[in-house]
Amino acid sequence: MAPAFQPFAVERFLSRHEHGVRFNFSESGVHPMRYEALLRLADADAGALLAARADYPQVNGTDALRERIAALYPGAGPANVLVTVGATEANTLAAQVLLAEGGATVAFRPTYAQFPGNAANLGHEVRHVDLRPEAGWALDGDALDRAARGARVIHVVNPSNPTGRAMDPSERRAVVDAAAREGAWIVADEVYAGTERAGERETPSFWGEGERVVAIGSLSKAYGLPGLRLGWMVAPEGVIEAAWRRHEYAAIAAPDLSMRLAELALRADVRPQVIARSRRLIRQGFDALAEAVDAMGMRVRPPDASAMSFIGFDLPIGSEALAARLLERQDLLMIPGALFGAEGHFRFSSALPEAHLAEGLRRLALEVDAVRAEGLARSTATA
Ligand SMILES: Cc1ncc(COP(=O)(O)O)c(C=O)c1O
Repeated sequence: MAPAFQPFAVERFLSRHEHGVRFNFSESGVHPMRYEALLRLADADAGALLAARADYPQVNGTDALRERIAALYPGAGPANVLVTVGATEANTLAAQVLLAEGGATVAFRPTYAQFPGNAANLGHEVRHVDLRPEAGWALDGDALDRAARGARVIHVVNPSNPTGRAMDPSERRAVVDAAAREGAWIVADEVYAGTERAGERETPSFWGEGERVVAIGSLSKAYGLPGLRLGWMVAPEGVIEAAWRRHEYAAIAAPDLSMRLAELALRADVRPQVIARSRRLIRQGFDALAEAVDAMGMRVRPPDASAMSFIGFDLPIGSEALAARLLERQDLLMIPGALFGAEGHFRFSSALPEAHLAEGLRRLALEVDAVRAEGLARSTATA
């Protein structure tokens, strides 16, 4: 019998609430770019785009686009690339291909559970390895080694959604060694590479760390182009071929116009400008958020990448109830940690215009104070 379907909790929550809310702090990427700004950066002619025919595009991705994507992964060529409808489709196809004959997946917790959710819905075992909040969400290498025994896939989101942590070299080594020991595949969802808050160095890909790596990327986060729904998978050719067969069922192809715009965004002279824009946006706001969080008696580890903060709290209610109150009473959206598998936390973006962020933080503080006051009144009444 097929397993009971497990909805994708985070995306289900977002698709219900993110449109129409006034103070939306649920974003994980940067404020999206305007199409005209991309065309301007690339010095491209909108007329030429509009004059093109809206035909079916090349199913696995145009040659030019696959070449530009491959150029980001040392040692990869266009035959190692499949262009997909967002990283979402790449994650889904990777699960279908790598788990075609079954096998367990190791997933860290908290995480963005697209690959593990697919694995579970295909009827396969998912083993969770809890990250250590007291150590800034570092990986417990021993727990990983135990969970990885006999596993087929080790899934990583690096830099992490929701914590914003980028693995340090010893954590990367632990993943690579565990995979090599077990003959497991590493599926690395790297959509936040390029969103580093400090320095210019991009978080390196897992691609090249052994023969069994599937690296997944997208224009949605670091490039600020989520509406293009354009992602990719970089993998050994056999995996790409098998994923391509499934892509023909799932989507046929990514949209033609999105591929044309992606070719521009990834052009060698344009890409650095797009990434620089994202970093500018991501680097603003965190100090104000950190100060407010501290004043509210909550905790946050500064994210290495992205503008997402995963905030820890001690309040007499859980993260989903807190989210519901904020939505109803303050018209403010954050994402409850419970949806990432980490209660007592919530995810909150700081990459927003200054006044908007300040008002959001004011509303958050109002609600936190109200929750505390009610908790105090209750405990006094029952004392
Ligand atoms: C880690 C991670 N992977 C994949 C996705 C989905 O990416 P895309 O918009 O390219 O489908 C997200 C979106 O939030 C994400 O956080």
